Amino acid sequence: MSVQLDAAGRLRHLLTLDGLPAPIVLGLLERARGFVHTPQARAPRGRQLEGRTVVNLFLEPSTRTRVSFELAARRLGADVVNIEGAAASTVKGETLLDTVYTLQSMRTDFFVIRTAESGAPASVAERVAADVSVVSGGESHLSHPTQGLLDALTIVQRKPDVDRLVVCIVGDIAHSRVARSAGQVLRTLGVRELRLVAPPELMPDDAEFPGAVRCLELDAGLADADVVMALRIQKERMATAEIPDRAAYRERYGLTGKRLRSARRDAIVMHPGPMNRDVEIESDVADGPQSVIRTQVANGVAVRMAVLLALAEHASAR
Ligand code: NCD
Repeated sequence: MSVQLDAAGRLRHLLTLDGLPAPIVLGLLERARGFVHTPQARAPRGRQLEGRTVVNLFLEPSTRTRVSFELAARRLGADVVNIEGAAASTVKGETLLDTVYTLQSMRTDFFVIRTAESGAPASVAERVAADVSVVSGGESHLSHPTQGLLDALTIVQRKPDVDRLVVCIVGDIAHSRVARSAGQVLRTLGVRELRLVAPPELMPDDAEFPGAVRCLELDAGLADADVVMALRIQKERMATAEIPDRAAYRERYGLTGKRLRSARRDAIVMHPGPMNRDVEIESDVADGPQSVIRTQVANGVAVRMAVLLALAEHASAR
């Protein structure tokens, strides 16, 4: 945690939302709002990152997050290099750190790192040059800070009084970095109630998500909820024997239009993607009037622009 703020308390790296001070969270959300545009409008552009280089080092598969970071960087004028999966030298035995040092020598200013290895983004952040910033693009099951921020932005756009909200997250919470980052930022923003709905084997440890209400049944979790976030079963993080039966899971935890009626009439429905339509979320719900799933994606670019700019200011203030 401490590595992500400098001595003056400014954002130096973005690795987790856990303990990130509220003024920084609010500042990033406010700045991101400035980049939100109507779907018809041209995307906002700036030249603030001209001459800077962003490397997207994605050691786990990703489409939306990687593209979102790429567009955010390009729209601010940065040069962008993408290194993904099998193309990464790490598969040739080079350590992540060696890859980072190599790219740093080519004058990289920002590393966006997605990795299945817990602790890797922080360990890189501790070792990069003083004017280089690291942003987590998703770390193991632990943290996905820009996703948490885009989820928070999407919620406050529709429902600004966070202290009145009941937010229900349903699905594979145990393996979800999205749920962890959402839980952390909602706590910082003072959410009234966070509910976690999952079968026991997909529920996180009791020590995690302090203050959250845990429900084994979806109807109980949905009752009068203002925000419902459905999550995918993260099969890639489970042994085959642990993967729940698809039909049984859908029956008990799938977010259907009928079930959604237990939530508030104006409840919004979220999903970080990728979705398994008609498993964790009914297709009609995903595309229905309560869904803000596409807004989440749009807000992702705005949030990542805000994060890159905040970090760039830190570097130039040095
Ligand atoms: C998620 C991720 O990779 O953490 N997707 C995303 O970034 N939008 C969630 C997932 O893979 O299910």
